[in-house]
Amino acid sequence: MLPNVQQTDAADHVPVLAEEVRELLSIQPGETIVDGTFGAGGHSRLLAADLQGSGKLMAIDRDPTARSYFDRVKASTRGVQMRFLRGDYAVVLSQLAGNGVGADAVLLDLGLSSMQVDRPERGFSYATDAALDMRMDTSDELSAADVIATWDERELEKIFRTYGEERYARQIARGIVRRRSESPIERTGQLVDVVRASIPAPARFGEGHPAKRVFQALRIEVNHELESLEAGLPAAFEMLRPGGRLLVISFHSLEDRIVKRFLRDRARGCTCPPEFPICVCGHEPELRILTPRIVRPSAREVDHNPRASSARLRAAVKI
Ligand SMILES: C[S@@+](CC[C@H](N)C(=O)[O-])C[C@H]1O[C@@H](n2cnc3c(N)ncnc32)[C@H](O)[C@@H]1O
Repeated sequence: MLPNVQQTDAADHVPVLAEEVRELLSIQPGETIVDGTFGAGGHSRLLAADLQGSGKLMAIDRDPTARSYFDRVKASTRGVQMRFLRGDYAVVLSQLAGNGVGADAVLLDLGLSSMQVDRPERGFSYATDAALDMRMDTSDELSAADVIATWDERELEKIFRTYGEERYARQIARGIVRRRSESPIERTGQLVDVVRASIPAPARFGEGHPAKRVFQALRIEVNHELESLEAGLPAAFEMLRPGGRLLVISFHSLEDRIVKRFLRDRARGCTCPPEFPICVCGHEPELRILTPRIVRPSAREVDHNPRASSARLRAAVKI
C-alpha cells in the first residue's frame, strides 16, 4: 500500500484493492492466514475480521517497525491466534513450510508501505532530503549509500536500466561515478541533484519526478526484492493446503512478470508437444488461476488513493 502524506495509523490505513483481496481470498472461520508483507496491517485487519473470531493469522515483515502496527491490530482483534514473525518472507515461508505448517491463504502485497515512505529518515523518498538508506530491514548491512559508493559504473547502469527501466541509465551512472570521485553521495538530495544534472534538460521536466526510476531501482537492489519474490512464491505455494489461496499484489512490471510466469507454469497440465497423439508427461496442473485477467484498482479507488494506480493483483487456488 502506498502512502498518503501524513504518518500512517493502522486504524485509518486503507489497503490497496481491499474488497478484491477479501473476495478472492474468501476467508472462512477457522482458517489460517499468512500475510507475508504485513506493513501497517491494513489487509491483515480486514482478513482477521473475516475469521469471525476463530482461526490463525501469521504476520511477516522484514521491517522491525511493523511490529507496533501488529500489536495494535492484535489488540483490536478478538479470538484469532496472531503471531508476528520478523524476516524476509522468502525465508520465513520456507521455514514454516519446512516445519509442516499449513496455510489456507497467503497474501503478498509487495513493495513499500506507508510507514516506510512517510518517514523521510528511512531514505526511500526523493521528495525529502535524508540519509540515503532504503533498507526495509534496518539490521541489513547494505544501504543505498553503499551501493552508490561502491558499485562500478556498469553495475549501476545495469540496475537503473533493469530495475528502474531508466532511459538515461548510462548517463546517470556516469554522473554518479564522476560526482562521487569529488565527494561522497550520502543523501537523497545529493542523488536527486546528480540525476537532474545527468539527464537532458527536457527530461528534467517530463512526466513524474526525474529521480523516481533511479530510487525504485536502488530500493529493489538494496532489498533484493525480486530474489525474495522468486524464492517466496514456491515457498508460499508449498505451505498452502489443497484449496488454499495465493494472492499477490505487485506494483511494477518486473514483479508482475515473475508472478504471472509462476502461476502459469503451475497451472499448466500436459506439457507434451502438440504433435504427440497421447500425453506421455503425466503432468497435472497444481493450481487454478482465479484471475484470468489481471485485477487493477477501480477509477474510484485511484481517485481516493492515486498511488494505488500501478497496483496489479493475481490470485490462484491450490488444487
Ligand atoms: C505494500 S506494504 C504492505 C502493506 C500492507 N498490506 C498493509 O495493508 O498495510 C509492503 C510491506 O512488505 C514488507 N516487505 C517487502 N518485502 C519483504 C520481504 N521480502 N520480506 C518481508 N517483508 C517484506 C515491507 O517492509 C512493507 O512493510
